[in-house]
Amino acid sequence: MSDQRIVTETMATDDFHRPSIQQRELWSATYEFPEHLRDLMAGKKMFIKTYGCQMNEHDSEMMAGLLRAMGYESVAEQDEADIILLNTCAIRENAEAKVFGEIGRLKPMKVRNPELIVGLCGCMAQEEAVRERLSRKFGYVDLVFGTHNIHQLPELVEQARNSQETIFDVWEKAGDVIENMPKLRKEGVRAWVNIQYGCNKFCTYCIVPYTRGRERSRLPVDIVDEVKGLGQSGVKEITLLGQNVNDYGLDLQDVYFAQLLRQVNEVGEIERIRFTTSNPWNFTDDLIEAIALGGKICEHIHLPVQSGNTDVLKRMNRSHTRETYLRLVDRIRNKAPEVSLTTDIIVGFPGETEAQFRDTLRLVEEVQYDNAFTFIYSPRKGTPAAGFEDNVRLEEKKERLQRLMDVQCTISHHINQRLRGQVVEVLVEGESRTNRQVMSGRTRTNKVVLFEASRTMIGKLVHVRVEEALTWTLKGQMIPSPLLVEA
Ligand code: 5AD
Ligand code: SF4
Repeated sequence: MSDQRIVTETMATDDFHRPSIQQRELWSATYEFPEHLRDLMAGKKMFIKTYGCQMNEHDSEMMAGLLRAMGYESVAEQDEADIILLNTCAIRENAEAKVFGEIGRLKPMKVRNPELIVGLCGCMAQEEAVRERLSRKFGYVDLVFGTHNIHQLPELVEQARNSQETIFDVWEKAGDVIENMPKLRKEGVRAWVNIQYGCNKFCTYCIVPYTRGRERSRLPVDIVDEVKGLGQSGVKEITLLGQNVNDYGLDLQDVYFAQLLRQVNEVGEIERIRFTTSNPWNFTDDLIEAIALGGKICEHIHLPVQSGNTDVLKRMNRSHTRETYLRLVDRIRNKAPEVSLTTDIIVGFPGETEAQFRDTLRLVEEVQYDNAFTFIYSPRKGTPAAGFEDNVRLEEKKERLQRLMDVQCTISHHINQRLRGQVVEVLVEGESRTNRQVMSGRTRTNKVVLFEASRTMIGKLVHVRVEEALTWTLKGQMIPSPLLVEA
């Protein structure tokens, strides 16, 4: 008999409250790999397909680490795999549609090779409706697990191997923060480091608080240790990850994000520190000062605004208004003028009027973002906004999205033009996608720069004079710089 541990998750449709953050009693548990499963699958191949955000990318690195400890090797082609995991995203409907399409495409592979293990995990697995659809229509999926029990993957794979039925094991709530999970990281130069899991904000359109649970911060000592280890293994840039990084530590005692940034800034081998995502709420002067310090902390803040209209923001249950957001941008620019700002914006939120949308356009013009990620509102079942009356036609929403993207493109192009002729510091990440002679890297402000250089430059900080400034990339020539004199 298979383990049919299906939990019922309830998404409160009237959940506008922001739960008070309580200090946790148990901080963390240390992961121990089940030794009887080590190398059991030696010679077998794994393929993990990741959808969605960096949090998911990083979770996939943990899954890959766990599977590798079982003996699986990564393969580039899914046809060669003995296990395929789809690590899914639930943020918008089209993200889910893509995954269901992919599961459909896996059926012939499963028919050809009944030994193949097909697993679905990540945010979609946390949704009851998705699990029901899977058990109704996609019986050939072997394993479904959620965002809170990734550490159980080896045992779950073992169960799936021995079962004819789909194993569903999804936890409704998060357990302890689990430290020391094995990870198989993708990139050599850059690495992600979780500092916080979950979200307490309950924006009315967003499914994340339901799929990722409440905010939990890792202990600073665990984070700093991980960063040190990464530095020693050759990583040059780390990105601190959380849904609301500036809320980091609210559930711990006397720990806060600006302090963590300063501690991580002290770690010797690391050259650059980034963080994402910030929330406009609780963005303190102390934090702005920590960023303004420069040092390893890069001058880039991703600061999702979502709308430029205060009434819409209120219905989104965002904690800021148009005015408080603009004041925050001023405070940032006064103390740290070098900072590049990027944002997320949703258009066509239920009931958004043309005038309210124009407030968003005006805000974008006023702030002058370096880049904006723009989305059409997508109703998510169980979230409060899915029950709001929506009288904005899809055609209208699409048109607003296009108008917004046009405005942002012009701004991004204009900002980049100002960089022509300037010398920027670039961390070389690797070959460009299209030309092996051309290296790709990023400025401290997170702009992609392409320039001719040899592979030996990968992992180094170099200086590049910008010659051509396109809307999303800069092109230039590497120039000699003192930073190149390095072991
Ligand atoms: N519809 C459209 N966009 C959404 N986002 C979150 N939920 C939705 C939704 N239901 C966007 C927000 C968020 C980004 C990660 O995705 O802009 O900041
Ligand atoms: Fe979603 Fe971000 Fe709002 Fe949390 S803060 S509910 S993750 S949009």
